Amino acid sequence: MNKELESLKQRAERAVENAQSLQELEDIFREFIGRNGEIRKHLLHLKNLAQDERKQAGAFLVQLRDELSEKIEVAQERVKLLDVDEVERVTELFAKPVAQYTPPKKEKKGAVHPLTQIENTVQNIFLKMGFESIEGNQVETDEYNFEKLNIPKDHPARDMWDTLWLKPADKGALLRTHTSPLQVRYMEKHKPPLRVIAPGTVFRNEKPDPTHHYQFHQVEGLMVDAKGEVSVANFKAVINEFFSALFEQQVKIRLRPGYFPFVEPGFEVDMSCVNCTGKGCKSCKHTGWLEMAGAGMVHPVVFKNAGYNPEKVSGFAFGLGLDRVAMMKYGVDDVREFLKNDIHFLQKFI
Ligand code: FA5
Repeated sequence: MNKELESLKQRAERAVENAQSLQELEDIFREFIGRNGEIRKHLLHLKNLAQDERKQAGAFLVQLRDELSEKIEVAQERVKLLDVDEVERVTELFAKPVAQYTPPKKEKKGAVHPLTQIENTVQNIFLKMGFESIEGNQVETDEYNFEKLNIPKDHPARDMWDTLWLKPADKGALLRTHTSPLQVRYMEKHKPPLRVIAPGTVFRNEKPDPTHHYQFHQVEGLMVDAKGEVSVANFKAVINEFFSALFEQQVKIRLRPGYFPFVEPGFEVDMSCVNCTGKGCKSCKHTGWLEMAGAGMVHPVVFKNAGYNPEKVSGFAFGLGLDRVAMMKYGVDDVREFLKNDIHFLQKFI
């Protein structure tokens, strides 16, 4: 009996060791462990044996059944690696993405408008030169837009600024025609010495053309110190420094005499056209020059209106046309492009 069981064990173990496929292992299981398998047959015969032998053989068979089951399980893992179909199945399984990954849609981001970009650049240049930057209101009063700037009600210079009045007309509210009201507003609250710029939107009842719009942007500048400390030469130095920093090249600037009631003397500041290097093009109306700013030495009446003693202070002021600066900087030959909100145009500045 012992010999017989020993040989059963050896046959079964060898069969498991040699098995090459899951099917073979399944057959081995059926042959030895299954309901009609050899181990079971032997177990059923135990009752015919003497008690001692029965106990011994019973324990042997139960242990053989358990060990064989375990060996078959281990062998199943081994043959799976040999099984071409199974390997294919697993490879395919891993090749398939677990969940379909959809990359997020590229976000459509907004961008800074070219005029805001240029405003930031201009601001940074002046900040480096020690200027502070302030903001004012787009709705102004007759008093600050005109009167305190030495432009009384019947002054002919009012025609220079085709004004958009707000109703009711007698209240004197208007859309500011320039950023110059900020000069008086700032001086009323601050003592000299001071250096300040005020960028902002301004409005005029004007017919648009390549260099004019009814809504445009200026940067006001004001520098005031003790009498004799600030001169036209200082203004020229500051404005030259500004344009060179902005255009990253030496640009030609010329000052022409110009009349503004709130400065004396006053100038128009022209810059050689960067778009055509002075040869003449649409953006400079074929003159080779583009008027970029109005400027001058602050008028004594303006100092007085702001509460300063004109005998004790001197200063320069300027009003820079930001849209004109943007035209030159970006090579745009029509100022109206900036306010059309044409996405194809704006995309060039992202
Ligand atoms: C003024 O507005 C004065 N307040 C400037 C000033 C300030 C003079 C301080 C003296 C002291 P003017 O109207 O020239 O000036 O406008 C100033 C600049 O704004 C012009 O040089 C030009 O560059 C720009 N500009 C004027 N009108 C328009 C317009 N319709 N569209 C676009 N830019 C304009």
